[in-house]
Amino acid sequence: MRTHYCGELRPDHIDEETTLCGWVHRRRDHGGVIFIDLRDRSGLVQVVYDPDRPEVFAEAERVRSEYVLQVRGRVRRRPAGTENPDLPTGEVEVLGHDLVVLNRAETPPFQLDDDSVSEEHRLRFRYIDLRRPEMYRRLALRSAITRELRRFLDDHGFIDIETPMLTKATPEGARDYLVPSRTHPGSFFALPQSPQLFKQLLMMSGVDRYYQIVRCFRDEDLRADRQPEFTQLDIETSFMDEDAIMALMEAMLRQVFARVLEVALPDPFPRMTHEEALRRYGTDKPDLRIPLELVDVADLVRDADFKVFAGPAADPAGRVAALRLPGGGSLTRKEIDDYTAFVGVYGARGLAYIKVNDVAAGREGLQSPILKFLPDAAVDGILQRTGAADGDLIFFGADKARVVNEALGALRVRLGHDRGLLEPGWRPLWVVDFPMFEWDEEGRRWVALHHPFTSPREEDLELLHTDPGRCRSRAYDLVLNGTEVGGGSMRIYRKEVQQEVFHQLGIDREEAVEKFGFLLDALKYGCPPHGGIAFGLDRLVMLMTGAASIREVMAFPKTQTAACLLTRAPAPVSETQLRELHIRLRPPPKDSARG
Ligand code: AMO
Ligand code: AMP
Repeated sequence: MRTHYCGELRPDHIDEETTLCGWVHRRRDHGGVIFIDLRDRSGLVQVVYDPDRPEVFAEAERVRSEYVLQVRGRVRRRPAGTENPDLPTGEVEVLGHDLVVLNRAETPPFQLDDDSVSEEHRLRFRYIDLRRPEMYRRLALRSAITRELRRFLDDHGFIDIETPMLTKATPEGARDYLVPSRTHPGSFFALPQSPQLFKQLLMMSGVDRYYQIVRCFRDEDLRADRQPEFTQLDIETSFMDEDAIMALMEAMLRQVFARVLEVALPDPFPRMTHEEALRRYGTDKPDLRIPLELVDVADLVRDADFKVFAGPAADPAGRVAALRLPGGGSLTRKEIDDYTAFVGVYGARGLAYIKVNDVAAGREGLQSPILKFLPDAAVDGILQRTGAADGDLIFFGADKARVVNEALGALRVRLGHDRGLLEPGWRPLWVVDFPMFEWDEEGRRWVALHHPFTSPREEDLELLHTDPGRCRSRAYDLVLNGTEVGGGSMRIYRKEVQQEVFHQLGIDREEAVEKFGFLLDALKYGCPPHGGIAFGLDRLVMLMTGAASIREVMAFPKTQTAACLLTRAPAPVSETQLRELHIRLRPPPKDSARG
């Protein structure tokens, strides 16, 4: 039906006859001449109709936004002075000879280049939203990324194997999506939170190198980088240790970044322990582009006559940390109040600060509501340790370590963005040496920091029984510019160790057999040492396309309340369907989410 895509016409094509198909992006009448910007997935080109051919001209007068046209014409140079340097096709235009309206369109719910359209509206009419060339570019880039990932893995002996979608609960820490069984009344499938156990079973089957680009389902609180269904690049290998796995995964990402974005990632990627990441950045996914760091000052303020600091400084679970903002002396009172409210969201009960006007002048050169509480030695120590210079501002957090880390960690990122401190480029980082377990204060029990199949470090095996909190795992996370894009580990491959870990997690023998009996059985019949990783493909594509949320790189994403505005899913089902599934509904709770 066509000879060219609209967006590919260039001066080289001048005097060629062309047939184009596409949508009317805009139509303008200009004193006897009609201009139509015709758009397809490749971009726009201007088509001109003059009254020399009255019938065609009349037809052109009738077209409206988003009509689908077939246009025949000749490519010509735009008259001098009318070129559009913002458009790749801006040096040329098509003089239209013919025009076929392939389909008409009602007035679209929004103009494609209107930036003020709400996301709700965009999702409701996603098929129109996706006509925006920017959206198409992201989808195409996503396709190029998966193509390169597959190519690398295929070249390195990995085979692509599908695993079940209707399965049993897999514990990745979120709630399951359940599917009722018609043939087994009262029983449910769970949609996989990840293929974790199947990929381990494939290693026990001797597959050796597996991968899959696979949908995962998690019913959890959603954010900009979380969706209820999302895609993992899921990988597992046998007889490789963590260093070999990390080296191979780095090579894969370097190749993909080089080929798709022409970006050279570092070789090797730096590594940091979990402990160091929390100490310096307050988070296990530090954005290394931001040149700000947390500094511990508890020892300096332990004896100060200021309970806010002295309390947490003396508490083994507490932390007192400082965050210096170079040039922060220019912050206004209102800005500081806003940041105080911001850290409040993370549970911080305040945000003490010292403005450093003149370091050489000692106390006189400082401005702070807490100065009067701090002895000279503490003040000197703080200035020295933070490396304070004239014009800086030092923020403080004092509380349980978790609160200080979350509050100052988030403040660090916020300041980095607000103050334009981000260094350009790509900063991958492996975070390693995670603890096996986290103490869950509410449930009063240990929970797995990764998942229950992650191997403890050999030298920490003893600690599994004696001091679980200090037992480290063989897990690794890949962080890119402050986003966790992947996580994996060496797995437990000995039955006794798996049983011991279940035990520490409060899963008794009976429950272990009921939930994971097939895994425990498989471990008996010759399980190779194995390990792997899963990358959040949507997050990786989000970063590589510069998108603000993973919804921008998914064709049909869901809202923050896990609904699809386009299809109106989830939706009620008929009484007949429910009866077949042996389900009777309770009345919905009054405050249930709609949307
Ligand atoms: P994990 O739970 O860390 O590990 O998931 C791996 C990666 O998947 C991405 N991710 C998500 N992306 C979008 N929306 C979500 N709701 C979401 N949840 C996770 C993240 C994360 O790093 N089976 C293990 C992997 C392994 O051990 O091999 C697993 O699923 O980028
Ligand atoms: P107050 O004595 O409560 O008025 O607090 C004095 C200063 O310390 C104020 O600037 C508060 O914002 C700050 N502050 C209070 N609690 C904390 C805390 N837990 N961490 C950091 N700063 C705090």
